[in-house]
Amino acid sequence: MRAAAPAVILFLVLVTAQAANYRRFVDYMIRGTDVEGFCEQCESVLQLLKNDPQGTLDSALNACKQTQYFTPRICDEEHRMYAGSVVQIIEQLNTSFDQACKFLSNGACGAPDIDAYKWTVHLDSIQDDATFHPQHFRHLEQEWKNTHLSMLHITDTHFDEDYEVGAAADCNEPICCTKYQPQATDPENFAAPWGYPFGKACNVPFRTVENMLQDIDRSRHVSFGIWTGDISPHAYINMTDERARRDIQETTAVIKRYLGQAKIYPAIGNHDAFPGRLFPQPGVNAAEYSVKPLYEEMWNLWYEWLPADQERIFKYGGYYTAKVHDRLRIIALNTNFCYTYNWWLVLGANDPARQLQWMITTLEEARRYRERVFIIGHIPPGSSACNSYWEEAYFKIVTKFQHTITGQFFAHMHTDEVILDYSDPMDKEKPTSVLYVTPAVTTSWSGMPEYRIYQTELGEVVDIETYFLNLTTANAGYFKIRESVHEKVREDFKDMSPFRRRAMEKVLYGVPHWELGYSARKSYGLKKFDAAHWHQLIKAFDTDDNLLQTFYKHYRQFRENVVRLEKPCDEACKKKLIANMTSKRSTRARELQR
Ligand SMILES: *[C@@H]1O[C@H](CO)[C@@H](O)[C@H](O)[C@H]1NC(C)=O
Ligand SMILES: *[C@@H]1O[C@H](CO)[C@@H](O)[C@H](O)[C@H]1NC(C)=O
Ligand SMILES: *[C@@H]1O[C@H](CO)[C@@H](O)[C@H](O)[C@H]1NC(C)=O
Ligand SMILES: *[C@@H]1O[C@H](CO)[C@@H](O)[C@H](O)[C@H]1NC(C)=O
Ligand SMILES: [Zn+2]
Ligand SMILES: [Zn+2]
Repeated sequence: MRAAAPAVILFLVLVTAQAANYRRFVDYMIRGTDVEGFCEQCESVLQLLKNDPQGTLDSALNACKQTQYFTPRICDEEHRMYAGSVVQIIEQLNTSFDQACKFLSNGACGAPDIDAYKWTVHLDSIQDDATFHPQHFRHLEQEWKNTHLSMLHITDTHFDEDYEVGAAADCNEPICCTKYQPQATDPENFAAPWGYPFGKACNVPFRTVENMLQDIDRSRHVSFGIWTGDISPHAYINMTDERARRDIQETTAVIKRYLGQAKIYPAIGNHDAFPGRLFPQPGVNAAEYSVKPLYEEMWNLWYEWLPADQERIFKYGGYYTAKVHDRLRIIALNTNFCYTYNWWLVLGANDPARQLQWMITTLEEARRYRERVFIIGHIPPGSSACNSYWEEAYFKIVTKFQHTITGQFFAHMHTDEVILDYSDPMDKEKPTSVLYVTPAVTTSWSGMPEYRIYQTELGEVVDIETYFLNLTTANAGYFKIRESVHEKVREDFKDMSPFRRRAMEKVLYGVPHWELGYSARKSYGLKKFDAAHWHQLIKAFDTDDNLLQTFYKHYRQFRENVVRLEKPCDEACKKKLIANMTSKRSTRARELQR
C-alpha cells in the first residue's frame, strides 16, 4: 500500500510550471486529498512531458530537491527508477489528455468514456449460477477425498535485507529502520531485532519471515498454501532489478525449505517487479521494461507447485489456474492489471492480457465439472487501489458465478478486513459476495506480523485462524540486554562470517513464538462465513461497541503505539471502517465526482 512514489515523479513536473502547487499534487497522490489540484494541472503536465519527456523529468528532479518534500536521495532514486518508464509510456500515449487524466485519477476527475478505458466483459451469453438447479452446487461428502482442508495464507512479507537493528523507525523517507537511516537516539524509535510494531514505515528482517515459517512447519497442519505477493520491500534506495529477483528467490527458497511437503500457490504483488508497481500489459512496447523475463523467472522458481499446462498463460500474463483437490480449483489473478498506480494501463486498460475473459471461460469449465473455486490475488477489487471499470467487470463475473466461487482471498492493504460486494440489481441491501483481505507479515503501516489459516469444509470457509508474533514480547529479551551489548554488537557484527553472525544473533535475539491471535468463529460468533453473515456482523457494530473494538484491534493487526495505548475506534472511525468494507471504494469515488 502507500502508493505514492511513481505518481510523484510525474507530478513533480508541475513544479516547473507552477511551483506553488507542488505540494498539492503530492498531497493528492500520497494522501488522496486535493483532487482539484490534481485535475487542474494533469493535462498540462502530460503536454509538457509529451513535448520534452527527458528535459521535463530532469527539471522535475531538480524541483523535487528544492521543495524538500523528501530527502534529495529519494528524489534521485525515484528519477533513476521511474523516468525511463515514464518516457516510454508518454511516447506511446495516443488517447486525449483529458481522457488520460480521468483514467489516471481513477475517475476522480470525471469518468473516462472511451473504449480504451471504459469497456465491458462479454457476459450476456453466459448462464447465471442462479438459473441452475440448486442441486448442481450441492456437494456431498462422498465426492470429496478430504472434506476438510486447511489453507495457509501468507502475504506481504516485504522482508528488507537492509533492515538494521537500532536504526531509526521514524524518518522522512518512504522506508525506515534500514542501514540508510541514522541510529535511533530514543528507545521508542529503535528498530528492534524482530521488527518494529508501532505502525511506521518499517518492514521486517529476513529472520522474522524464517521464524514464521519454522513456526508453521512445527505447529500447524497445512493442506496447501496461498502466497499473494509483495515479496520485496517498498525500497527506494539502491533498489535494483537484481535485488528484486533475489528477494523472490530467497523467499521462495525459505518457503520450500520449511513447507516443502505442501503445495503453495502464488499470486503476483505490485512490489514484485522492478521498478515496483509497473507491469506493462502484453501488446504495448515496453522495451527493456517488459515483465516477461520476470514471469519466466517466477515460473522457473514456482513450476513444481503449478500444473505444467499453465506455463504458457503464466508467462504471458502472470495468472493461472490449478486444481488443488479433486473438487476445488484456484484461480490466481494478476491484479497488477487493475492497479491504479500501474501507469502502463494508460495505454489501454481494456481487459489487459485478456485476463477477465479467461477467468470467465475458466469458471464455466469449473462449473461444468462441479468444482468449487477460490479466487486469489494481491490487490482487492473494491479497494481504492483497483481500477473501477476492471473492478466492475470483476464483480459482475463473481455475481454471475456466485455459487461456483466459494472464496475470494486478497491482500495488499496490510490490514485485516473484508470487502462486501452489493451487485444484486434487485436488492442493494443484499450482499452478493464477501472477499477476505488477509493481514500482512510486514509491520509497514500495519501492526504485528501475521499469517492465517483458513479452515475449509467441502470447499467452504468454516473458520479463520489468525496467528501473530507479539513483537513486544519477542523483542523484550533483547531490550533487557541492549544497553550493554548494542554498540559492541554493531562493531563485532561488521567482520563476522554469516555463520557466526547467525549463531550470535540467536543468542542475543532469542527465538520467539507465534500465537493464535483469534479465531473468527469464536471471536465474532460467526456461524457461517458467507456474505450475509458478514453483513450482519458489520451491521452489529452500531449497537455492539465491544464487537467493533475487537474487530478494530484485529483490523490493525494488534498494533500498539509507543505508550501501549492504541486509540479505540470512535464514531468517525466506525463510519469509515464500515464504508471501506461495504462500498466499492473506487466505483464510489467515480460516482461522487461525476
Ligand atoms: C548503494 O550501493 C552502492 C554500491 O553498492 C554504494 O556505493 C552506495 O553507497 C549505496 N547507496 C547508499 C545511499 O548507501
Ligand atoms: C494506441 O496504442 C495502443 C497501445 O500501444 C494500440 O494498441 C492502439 O491500437 C493505439 N490506438 C491508436 C488509435 O493508434
Ligand atoms: C503483547 O505482549 C505485551 C507484553 O508482553 C502485552 O502487554 C500485550 O497485551 C500483548 N499483545 C497481544 C495482542 O497479546
Ligand atoms: C479506509 O480506507 C482508506 C483508504 O484505503 C484508509 O486510508 C483509511 O485508513 C481506512 N479507514 C478505516 C477506518 O478503515
Ligand atoms: Zn504490501
Ligand atoms: Zn501491495
